[in-house]
Amino acid sequence: MTLALDARRRAMLEEMGVVLFEHPAHSGDMHDTPPAPPRRAGGTADLRPARADAAPASAASLLPPDDAATQSAPVAARVRLPGIEAMDWDALEQAVAACRACKLCESRRNTVFGVGDRQAEWLLVGEAPGENEDLQGEPFVGQAGKLLDNMLGALGLNRHERVYIANVLKCRPPGNRNPQPEEIAQCEPFLRRQVELLRPKIILAMGRFAVQTLLQSTEPIGRLRGRVHRYHDVPVVVTYHPAYLLRNLPDKAKAWADLVLAQSVLRGEA
Ligand code: URA
Repeated sequence: MTLALDARRRAMLEEMGVVLFEHPAHSGDMHDTPPAPPRRAGGTADLRPARADAAPASAASLLPPDDAATQSAPVAARVRLPGIEAMDWDALEQAVAACRACKLCESRRNTVFGVGDRQAEWLLVGEAPGENEDLQGEPFVGQAGKLLDNMLGALGLNRHERVYIANVLKCRPPGNRNPQPEEIAQCEPFLRRQVELLRPKIILAMGRFAVQTLLQSTEPIGRLRGRVHRYHDVPVVVTYHPAYLLRNLPDKAKAWADLVLAQSVLRGEA
């Protein structure tokens, strides 16, 4: 991969933990294989982590359904609007805003439908809104979102052009707890319809809940990344969640490798 490296993109790559070294033959370009021996300067991207000071988080499986809580909710409160599979973008957004299919509707301030280009080639899928997202009604607007914006910037992309960002859940789980299977099951048709409407060329599944929902797999991300999966015929590349990367800085370089893989799939090179 060759990209003209301007100062902004270089700064973004370095922020992601991609250490840049000058390559004598390509001092103005970036390649994704490391040269040897490396020299600190602008030029060629080496996928080594910048820092190695944090332990990886343990993988965990989905929680069992919260049967007691869902049984106690009023039946009418758990009925999702019919006909999602035929909705256009606007109808779908309204359906999400009106959704009362699980108990998250009781604590949310805003639904978080998604953001970006509705003609996008890239679809990025996260887990669920956090506090800032719940307040603003937009995905990834907190610290994890800043990192995500930098990751996109490193590819010359941004959240409003050629990219669409959505979550598995459209409402915030209280206290940022993990999504529960019942909530994922109720919300998944919205994400599925977003994929159908968007018809992206690549999906980047970020974090275990996106991966489990899209791939129906409980394998750890470390074992699923590095290859191309499918969700309803759309290629899927698996990567770490940006919030995880904030706690596990060395894995930023792996996330960069995942983005490079996704980009080459999109370009028909992988
Ligand atoms: N984490 C997510 O998975 N999604 C958001 O929108 C914000 C944080």
